[in-house]
Amino acid sequence: MVTVRVPATTANLGPGFDTLGLALALYNTLTFEELPEGLFFEGVEPEYATEENLAVVSYKAVLTKLGLPMPGLRITMETGIPICRGLGSSAALIAAGAAGANANHGSPLSGEELLAVCNDIEGHPDNLAPAIFGGLVASFVENGRPYIARYALHESLHCTALIPDFQLSTHLARGVLPQQVPYFDAIYNVSRTAVLLKALETGDEEAISMALRDKLHQPFRRTLIPGFDEAEKLAKACGCTAFFISGAGPTLLCLWADPEFDGRLAAGLSSLPGHWRQLPMAVDHKGIIVS
Ligand code: HSE
Repeated sequence: MVTVRVPATTANLGPGFDTLGLALALYNTLTFEELPEGLFFEGVEPEYATEENLAVVSYKAVLTKLGLPMPGLRITMETGIPICRGLGSSAALIAAGAAGANANHGSPLSGEELLAVCNDIEGHPDNLAPAIFGGLVASFVENGRPYIARYALHESLHCTALIPDFQLSTHLARGVLPQQVPYFDAIYNVSRTAVLLKALETGDEEAISMALRDKLHQPFRRTLIPGFDEAEKLAKACGCTAFFISGAGPTLLCLWADPEFDGRLAAGLSSLPGHWRQLPMAVDHKGIIVS
């Protein structure tokens, strides 16, 4: 039996649409026990306790890659990552299942190989790569092979999530995106992504606030998140360095260095329309931990 702890992730980070991702210290912990037969779950809502559960799908995918048959399985889950909130809950399950299968069979696959198997299932390496490796990761996929680059994040930078009480499906949030974008908008994002990565490493707040902007997805998705405008105004008034949609939303993320920021935000939270939970989250630097 193995236990796998996997972090939440925030994808995109503004301009790095489908490219950048950051692991956050909010975790799901799963155990995988192989049995002669059957499929059993503990800590899983009945509607998700099926063979379609993403942790089962990825477990099976790793065994297939290893040329092994699927055994019976007992999976227990402690889930700290909220579902359909833009915090990488699907990627976390996929990564955990893959890591669990790998570890139960002597860990023959590397992190890169696990990422490739996982990416075949979900196709969002910007969530999967930081979930597996931790920290700030950029990625793309060519011919089915993910390529990743890991970056440092300056220790002065902190994250606070504003999590609403409603879900938003990634499918819906991708559906509002245009088929084409103006050339200028593509350049706007490419240039900012490149500058942002260095600014995040050095902690250059002014450069971060200018670079962590986006024209490829947020202008379309913000309309799907009631309260976005008010939350953005509040976060900026409280002194955050950058404010952006976490992944496909609806969670909103504040990046900040001012130690007073969280207290100010808490004081203003009740002024927002709807119900929002404020959750400060440290950056996770470890990624998946198997024990
Ligand atoms: N980059 C993806 C998106 C992440 O924003 O649609 C989805 O989890």
